[in-house]
Amino acid sequence: MYNLPTHIAIIMDGNGRWAQKRGLPRNLGHKEGIKAVERTLDACIKFHIKFVTFYAFSTENWKRDKEEIDGIFSLLRDYLKNNPDYFNKKDIKIKHIGELSPFPEDLKKELTKTENQTTNNETLTMTLALNYGGQDEITRTVNKLLKENKMEITYKDISQNLDTNFLPDPDLVIRTSGENRLSNFMMLQMAYSELYFPKVLWPDFNEKELKKALKIFSKRERRFGGLKK
Ligand code: FPP
Repeated sequence: MYNLPTHIAIIMDGNGRWAQKRGLPRNLGHKEGIKAVERTLDACIKFHIKFVTFYAFSTENWKRDKEEIDGIFSLLRDYLKNNPDYFNKKDIKIKHIGELSPFPEDLKKELTKTENQTTNNETLTMTLALNYGGQDEITRTVNKLLKENKMEITYKDISQNLDTNFLPDPDLVIRTSGENRLSNFMMLQMAYSELYFPKVLWPDFNEKELKKALKIFSKRERRFGGLKK
C-alpha cells in the first residue's frame, strides 16, 4: 500500500444501535466498542500508522443518562488499568486531549498513570479525546492567549496552544455508522483532512474496514488549496 495517512482520527459512532439491534443495553455496545478499539490499534501498527485519535467522550456527551456516562467511565478506567503491559509490549504511547477536571478521580488517576508509563513508546501514539469539543478547545486556547496580554495572535500561536499541540493534523477522519457529521471534533485541525463515512457500526469495525479506508485514502488527491501536480 502507498500514500498512507500519518494521523487517523476516529469518531466511533453506532455503539448504541449495535446494542439496540440485539436487544442489549447501550453500555454493552460501548463494551463491544472497546474490542473494536483493540482491533484498530493492532491494525494501525500493522499498517505503520503513527497516530490514531479516538473520540471517546465529547463535551456534549454529558447530555446522556447518568447510567450510560458512568458506564463509559468505568469501561475506560478498566481498559486503562488492564492494559499497561500491552501498551508497553506493543510500544503504544497513550495521550489525551480535552478538559479532564469534571471526570471521576479514579479515571483521571488511571489515565495519568498510563500516560506516564507509556511516555517513551514510539511505534504508535493513541490519543483519547475525553470531555473534548473543538469549540471548547478553541475557547480555552484563546483565553490562555488573552492572559499573555498579546496584542495580536497568529494561527501558529493558536495551534501551539491547542490540546493537540503534540499531534500532526489528522490526514484521515473516519466516522462509522453512516452519519455524515463531524460533531465538534477537531474542527480547526481537520481543515484539510480527508473524510470517510463508512456504514459499519463501530463495534463491527476491524482490520478489513481499516484497510478499505486506507485504500480509499490512498486514491484521494490532496492539494491543500494548491493546484494538481
Ligand atoms: C458513540 O456511539 C460512541 C461514544 C459516545 C463513545 C463510546 C466510548 C467508548 C467505546 C469507549 C472508548 C474507549 C477507548 C479505549 C477509546 P453512540 O452511543 O452514539 O451510538 P448510537 O449513535 O448508535 O447511539
